[in-house]
Amino acid sequence: MIDRRSLLAGLASLPFAASAACAQSSGQPPAPATGGALRTVRIPGADVEVPIVGVGTARRYDDPQGAEALAPLRDTIRRFAELGGQVIDTAPSYGRAEEVVGQLVEELGVRDRLFLATKVGVDTREEGVAQIEESFRKLRTARIDLIAVHNLRDVDNQLAILRDLKSAGRIRALGITTSSDRQYEQFEAVMRREALDTIQVDYALDNRNAAERILPLAQERGFAVFINLPFGRDRLFGATRDRPLPDWAAEIGATSWAQVFLKYVLSHPCRPIAIPGMAQVRYVEDNLGAARAPLPDAAMRTRMEQFIDGL
Ligand SMILES: NC(=O)c1ccc[n+]([C@@H]2O[C@H](COP(=O)([O-])OP(=O)(O)OC[C@H]3O[C@@H](n4cnc5c(N)ncnc54)[C@H](OP(=O)(O)O)[C@@H]3O)[C@@H](O)[C@H]2O)c1
Repeated sequence: MIDRRSLLAGLASLPFAASAACAQSSGQPPAPATGGALRTVRIPGADVEVPIVGVGTARRYDDPQGAEALAPLRDTIRRFAELGGQVIDTAPSYGRAEEVVGQLVEELGVRDRLFLATKVGVDTREEGVAQIEESFRKLRTARIDLIAVHNLRDVDNQLAILRDLKSAGRIRALGITTSSDRQYEQFEAVMRREALDTIQVDYALDNRNAAERILPLAQERGFAVFINLPFGRDRLFGATRDRPLPDWAAEIGATSWAQVFLKYVLSHPCRPIAIPGMAQVRYVEDNLGAARAPLPDAAMRTRMEQFIDGL
């Protein structure tokens, strides 16, 4: 069931303005995708529905120097919240990103509209407790919506801390993350033995290994799935640079390459949430467009894979 906030965000942006398909291929920037309700998924544990595209904060939020560097990040988060976006993914290891997110969210007064996700990535129980307390302080919030063990580091100890925090109501959900195939075997083992709410893994149109076992297992176990690196950083944009959008992009309602790449990820049957890195308003408008209907069906997904494999 869609929650009231998502519903209001969707209604506020009706009627659906069908943006000109292939606007990008005619040399114009993609039309801001502001029409239609954002698709949502439920986060078990947190028992909340969130839109399926969130903001990743690695790199671009790690060390903005001065007001000039902070302004586009503030505009990005403001626009994201205005359009009904909720998930912001950060981590203590992303430089000053947690601090920057905490400051901007407080300044904008949008904390209650967001789902803040961070991570813990240290080697002992004591370090974990200390790092998590710092995350609360930097994010300027009394409750963090999701904390995940970053890249399985000290996973047993850290999950035990997260369980205690969840019981105390200080976090709403817990999980684990990875972005490397080398960890998939261990990742799968943790997924099988632990009661989690979420996982986060790398998956993209040209990086589909997670779909072999991790994503189906998440579906079987009932975990919400967050997808990192949905563009492979700049890899997919590099592969398609200077190419017009294919005709079939219009069939899935995609008006930009970013929407093509995201809609592929988002149409996996495990119903994931993608968290592309975004530090510009135009990316927010573009990427949230991928969270609106329609999504590719199985036949179209195969066609998309054949397209990228053929480049
Ligand atoms: N192990 C882990 O837990 C783990 C690992 C990696 C990432 N993550 C999370 O996943 C998030 C996503 O990964 P990522 O940011 O490294 O890579 P990504 O999402 O694959 O790519 C992000 C880059 O794509 C470009 N971009 C975004 N929207 C665009 C648009 N509409 N049109 C054109 N270009 C666009 C931006 O590049 P420019 O800014 O250069 O323009 C942006 O920095 C991270 O921010 C982080 O929160 C977690």
